[in-house]
Amino acid sequence: MIELKTAIAENIFWVGVVDWNLRDFHGYVTNRGATYNSYLIADEKTVLVDTVKHTFAEELATNIKDVTDFDKIDYIIVNHVEMDHSSSLPMIAEKAKNATIIASEKGKEHIICHYGDHFKIQTVKTGDTLNLGDRTLTFVEAPMLHWPDSMMTYVTPDKILMSNDAFGQHLASSQRFDDEVDEHILMEEAGTYYANILMPFGPIIIRKIQEITQLGIAPTMIAPSHGIIWRSNPSRIVNAYLQWSEGKAKRKISIVYDTMWGSTDKMAHAIADGATSQGVEVKLMKLRATELSEVVTEILDSKAVIVGSPTMNNQMFPTLGHFLAYITGLRPKGKVWSFFGSFGWGGGAVRGMTETAKKAGFEVREPGIEVKFVPNDEDLRKCFELGKQIASEI
Ligand code: FEO
Repeated sequence: MIELKTAIAENIFWVGVVDWNLRDFHGYVTNRGATYNSYLIADEKTVLVDTVKHTFAEELATNIKDVTDFDKIDYIIVNHVEMDHSSSLPMIAEKAKNATIIASEKGKEHIICHYGDHFKIQTVKTGDTLNLGDRTLTFVEAPMLHWPDSMMTYVTPDKILMSNDAFGQHLASSQRFDDEVDEHILMEEAGTYYANILMPFGPIIIRKIQEITQLGIAPTMIAPSHGIIWRSNPSRIVNAYLQWSEGKAKRKISIVYDTMWGSTDKMAHAIADGATSQGVEVKLMKLRATELSEVVTEILDSKAVIVGSPTMNNQMFPTLGHFLAYITGLRPKGKVWSFFGSFGWGGGAVRGMTETAKKAGFEVREPGIEVKFVPNDEDLRKCFELGKQIASEI
């Protein structure tokens, strides 16, 4: 008999798995582990919503078996084909021989690309419904949240939105619901998840939330495919997504830098002093001492980002190249950027970083500051003034 704590509503069960030891999710550092949520709806028709990462396929199969026989599964809904949610699909589909897979048109294409063309797949579009008996499922395509194939499944009359990646967090827990876990940790992980996975898609998120509302979907529970389920106040995470997507941020400056012999470090501290003299919050992050996932999360709620690098072989320091490749891809909105650094003879780091940021469409304040070898008192005064100037602007 399945334990009661896995029932998220009457005859709707969480049958997912907890990946306690995950520390790297395709480069995103997951210090608190992860979960892959899968749901089983036992109505006149029986439906499995999403599967899990293949390394946990046996555990998923055991969880399903605790609720129902595989022969009774009529549908497997694949809300998203990224392998954390679909890589146990071949094994589960093999067991659930009577099941039809339901996916978006793109989802069907992605399933075939990943696992071959031997599944019975029914495609759905936004607004399509599937009656299960007492319940009806409504599908909402959500392209780019997080892949072109992504969609959400809304369960009525329970009013549960199974949102897949959207509204998730990487947070391993024995608890399933938002009112059972530390609220601060939950929102911190939701922010980190948004910053590292969904930040590029802010405008799409805003439109999707509007569209869902227009469709009359008003969930009392949001059950994502990662982490904790929002049942006490689902509008809290929806409102947080709207704020993040609109680029709303605090009077806060993230100073991101690296250093070889300490010159850029001295400059970073002088800039921080200038900024704090204006009463703004400052976060100083040396790249080799801070996880990139954390840096990006700090940038999410910062109004300005000041970035520093020494020059190495006429280029920015390699960690800055890594950082800029990541952050320009994430396309943060509405922030002011400025650059500083040091060099010995040729220079090039500040110019290179500035060009990269401008090419990405960032709002850059020029000129930046570049000093030869070691900053003198006048150089540090200029750094202090830069911190002051950016702080007063935000
Ligand atoms: Fe959790 Fe885009 O997969």
